Amino acid sequence: MSFRKDFVWGAATASYQIEGAYNEDGKGSSIWDEFTHIDGKILDKSTGDVACDHYHRYKEDVRLMHELGLKAYRFSIAWPRIFPDGIGSVNQKGIDFYNNLIDELLSYGIEPYITLYHWDLPYALYLKGGWLNDDIADYFERYTTVVAENFGDRVKNFITFNEPQVFIGCGCLEGSHAPGFQYGDKDLLRMCHNVLRAHGRAVRVLRQTVPDVKIGFTSAASPLVPLTENDVEAARGGFFSCGRGNFVFSQSFWHDPIAFGKYPEAILSTYGEDFPAVDEEDMKLISAPIDFIGLNIYTGAFVKADENGYAQRIPCYRGHPRTAIGWDVVPQSLYWGTKFFYDRYKLTIFITENGMSAHDCISLDGKVHDPNRIDYLNRYLLELKKSAEDGADIGGYFQWSLMDNFEWAKGYSERFGVIYVDYETQNRIIKDSGYWFKGIIEQNGENL
Ligand code: NOJ
Repeated sequence: MSFRKDFVWGAATASYQIEGAYNEDGKGSSIWDEFTHIDGKILDKSTGDVACDHYHRYKEDVRLMHELGLKAYRFSIAWPRIFPDGIGSVNQKGIDFYNNLIDELLSYGIEPYITLYHWDLPYALYLKGGWLNDDIADYFERYTTVVAENFGDRVKNFITFNEPQVFIGCGCLEGSHAPGFQYGDKDLLRMCHNVLRAHGRAVRVLRQTVPDVKIGFTSAASPLVPLTENDVEAARGGFFSCGRGNFVFSQSFWHDPIAFGKYPEAILSTYGEDFPAVDEEDMKLISAPIDFIGLNIYTGAFVKADENGYAQRIPCYRGHPRTAIGWDVVPQSLYWGTKFFYDRYKLTIFITENGMSAHDCISLDGKVHDPNRIDYLNRYLLELKKSAEDGADIGGYFQWSLMDNFEWAKGYSERFGVIYVDYETQNRIIKDSGYWFKGIIEQNGENL
């Protein structure tokens, strides 16, 4: 056995990172539109105003996906393209854009995977309190209804949220991402709970509206990797720990309510009265069955058990391989992350993102040679394959990213794509890694 026969091979992107056309055809402003226009927020002073101009070039981009042999494409919908004010009237041109994109994908036999929320909250809703406003679950339900009614005849795979750890953690705890503020724990708990309430509503709508729908929820995970067999339980315990100071970035805080219908005991007892009142009806919706867990894994941390059995981090040695953005290359994170998740939640796992940033450039021969990315993908995929062989149910793998794009607070300074984008000309060039990935897809990973 290796990867299952129907293994889904794809690549992923997100609306704000590639679309551009930030104020065209009736689109409303998002928190990222506002944030990037504030001086000093983005490393290279760039914005997503134009990005990869995918809004106008989606046909070329889908053709490139076909050239790469992709079986699936994960993209997100810009909520303010559908609802310029977050609620209220629907923008038909926004619907048209995604309809065209979906039809184009299907004409090449590429299966669409839609992420409903990949961070571009309508600015109008931020002004109403954003995730702090309890009504946001209603707004998200309405938005999901329109998405499901318009695209659900052709799209069967939906991810409600992408990396709540990061959009709450970096956006509202650290303040390095939009909207760029630092809230205290009590407010953060309320926001997180509202994200889960919105997730529950979306699941209900999708089940009611889309026949044969498959629903997932995607987490940002940096798995703890045990140094030896004796460190496995310490790594597992540390990976799922959740308490004061780390709940936003933890795994169990988000996934336990969905899978088990309750927050981890430790977090409830730690915060007591400060924890938002949890309505039973909400919890029922939050814990309605989903079909898969999405994991975005790029790196991990090595640990060993200390004398009390707790995970103790072992820093990587000096000179350990790192990607351009500075993340340690830890391929085993894909093995342990998927194994730990599958053991705990017993749900199909999709790697919804994995990849690396590198200082890619066009060589004299006009091509983009990125042997380091090939090596990275190769090592990580081998670990994923091993995890599947050891019994974790792995449904698919989406490489991040289809093309170089706007890397949030880092702007265009990091390139994650298997397609190179020249931002001056908007020319695209498939990198060597793209052709390599195509070969892996063709053989369903047998040639790894
Ligand atoms: C996670 C995010 O979902 C994506 O938007 C981002 O570009 C990649 N990781 C790389 O940081």
